[in-house]
Amino acid sequence: MSDLRVRYMGLDLSNPFVVSSSSLTDSVDKVRACADAGAGAVVLKSLFEEEIQAEIDASADGAEHTEAADYIREIQTGAGLKRYVDLIRGSKDAVDIPVIASINAVTRNWWEEHVPALEQAGADAIELNISLMPYDYRDDEAAISEFYVKTVESVKRLVSIPVAVKIGHYFSSIPAIVDRLRWSGATAVVLFNRFYQLDIDVENFRLRSGSPMSSPADLAFPLRWITMIYGKTEAQLAASGGVHSGEAAVKALLAGAQVTQVCSTLYRNGLDHLETMKTELLAWMDKHSYERIDQFRGKMSQKRSSQPETFERLQYIKALVGQS
Ligand SMILES: Cc1cc2nc3c(=O)[nH]c(=O)nc-3n(C[C@H](O)[C@H](O)[C@H](O)COP(=O)(O)O)c2cc1C
Repeated sequence: MSDLRVRYMGLDLSNPFVVSSSSLTDSVDKVRACADAGAGAVVLKSLFEEEIQAEIDASADGAEHTEAADYIREIQTGAGLKRYVDLIRGSKDAVDIPVIASINAVTRNWWEEHVPALEQAGADAIELNISLMPYDYRDDEAAISEFYVKTVESVKRLVSIPVAVKIGHYFSSIPAIVDRLRWSGATAVVLFNRFYQLDIDVENFRLRSGSPMSSPADLAFPLRWITMIYGKTEAQLAASGGVHSGEAAVKALLAGAQVTQVCSTLYRNGLDHLETMKTELLAWMDKHSYERIDQFRGKMSQKRSSQPETFERLQYIKALVGQS
């Protein structure tokens, strides 16, 4: 029987399926359900910066609540810092698998005070979801990258547990930002975050949100970049986006992913799907006579390609001329 164990950010996982940050992991009971269903690790639902702000506002004696603060309170999607700390503690008591805390942030002001609480609560690692959506044409590209780097540096000064950064795919150079994040102190980079999807209601002239769920086709994004980056930076790479089956996980691992993060497929198919994906991965490994994941991780990466210089260009040309 093949062995699915992997190491991610220095943590031992029984398998490479990590339940990604979402409402699948926003309570101790749900974290326990993920562990019982066979997850290799969980990333807790993100603590949103606005929630921390709202908690501070609420505890300020006699302070008047601004309209903005009320709005923030309305859009709160989870617990404040104290409840988040309780979620970490409760999860750590309830399960044996690694528990990764997650913070979704747009500014750096609050890190200094609040990040250490997550480590003290027992989180095994922290995933930073730096959801910066540059909407102002005056936002300089170099300054945006700098924000990511400085944020990681600040967090690393405050905690000793490993830090992963989850990024979106809108960068001029994904390999360059991944490498910079590694040198700033990130052990792993999660490729990719799924941004809020925008849609327009054409009858009522209103903006509305598109589906938050991915489709299997979304795997193309992490696959492209992980095949390109694997082995060229010391950052470990987690594939997130479009991993819906055991076969998709095989692809992500062949590209060079250390682990795969799964979310939409579990919303669609239930947590039992974790077992199905593990069985599919094991069947593929048996068929190809692999006993361990590190025997084939990165096998399809550019680094392992016989023609590394023309790797990506070759795939592009093949697509244009219709060869698979
Ligand atoms: C309902 C829902 C809630 C999510 N909440 C968070 C979150 O709080 N923090 C975060 O970093 N990502 C969040 N995500 C993004 C997922 O963690 C994941 O990166 C994304 O869905 C892509 O993975 P998938 O293709 O397996 O769904 C959420 C996704 C969904 C569908």
